[in-house]
Amino acid sequence: MSASFLIADGLAKKYPGARGKPDLTVFDDVHFTIEKGEFVCIIGHSGCGKTTILNVLAGLDTASSGNVLMDEREISGPSLERGVVFQGHALMPWLTAKKNVEFAVCSRWPDKSGKEIDAHCQKYLDLVGLTGSEHKKPSELSGGMKQRVGIARAFAIEPKMLLLDEPFGALDALTRGNIQEELVKICAATHQTVFMITHDVDEAILLSDKIMLMSNGPRARIAEIVVNTLPKNRSRETLHKEPSFYAIRNHLVDFLVSRSKRFSEALPEGYDPKNPPLVTPGVEAPPPPSSPLEFAKVVNLRH
Ligand SMILES: Nc1ncnc2c1ncn2[C@@H]1O[C@H](COP(=O)(O)OP(=O)(O)O)[C@@H](O)[C@H]1O
Ligand SMILES: [Mg+2]
Repeated sequence: MSASFLIADGLAKKYPGARGKPDLTVFDDVHFTIEKGEFVCIIGHSGCGKTTILNVLAGLDTASSGNVLMDEREISGPSLERGVVFQGHALMPWLTAKKNVEFAVCSRWPDKSGKEIDAHCQKYLDLVGLTGSEHKKPSELSGGMKQRVGIARAFAIEPKMLLLDEPFGALDALTRGNIQEELVKICAATHQTVFMITHDVDEAILLSDKIMLMSNGPRARIAEIVVNTLPKNRSRETLHKEPSFYAIRNHLVDFLVSRSKRFSEALPEGYDPKNPPLVTPGVEAPPPPSSPLEFAKVVNLRH
């Protein structure tokens, strides 16, 4: 079997304790894999280390131990192979929407002609629905539009992997819904591999192929991986009509409300951080897989 596209192996993050206090282990023994083209969400309480993990995948932070391989190469610093959308939009305020995207595209392909760069950027601005607003500066754009520029910029560098840190958290429900639908369309069209942090369980169910549940810190772990068994062509309108939607939703909410805390107080018997249990709420358990990866493939085939 070929190796997974991304392999996070035994990640831990520790901070030295201040003034004689013990060290703080934010998370440890974090293992997970992401396949090419897979959309993976991670949910967990504030402070458990989600952003730290995303920054390690981005190469913007280093783990205290463990490593991450992407496409069989160790991640050791930032790269244009990975596009990041931060919680805030992180745009350059003195540049127009298009220039913000162009800046990244020029870095990625320094040899492209001005005309090619223009066409390339326009394509991605159109894709996120910003046609007509290309020449506005961030101060002239709404929160949703700024976030769209950030998404266009991340997509425009055609990264091997997209890393999204609660990208829609600050948006109103209507705008968030619209951008989520656009993201579904773009990912379906480009088969983009995505790692996304969210607090929104409905967003996770709409977008992801699998949802990693992170227990509370300190010493947070990937407690469980929920495989999304809903049909691939789901939309916000049809999501709640799917027979297993509420089973998945209740499972996620139950984890956040009670199990995430219990998990960190005492690890469940038989828990193996290298192979967190894969669960399919609302769906009869398939025959036992020979490995977690095989299991994920079986479930994917059933979509
Ligand atoms: N320099 C630091 N020293 C000590 N603890 C830190 C430092 N930076 C971050 N942390 C801790 O790391 C934890 C994880 O932060 P973060 O990855 O942002 O969590 P999340 O994104 O899940 O909310 C937090 O509990 C935070 O207090
Ligand atoms: Mg965070």
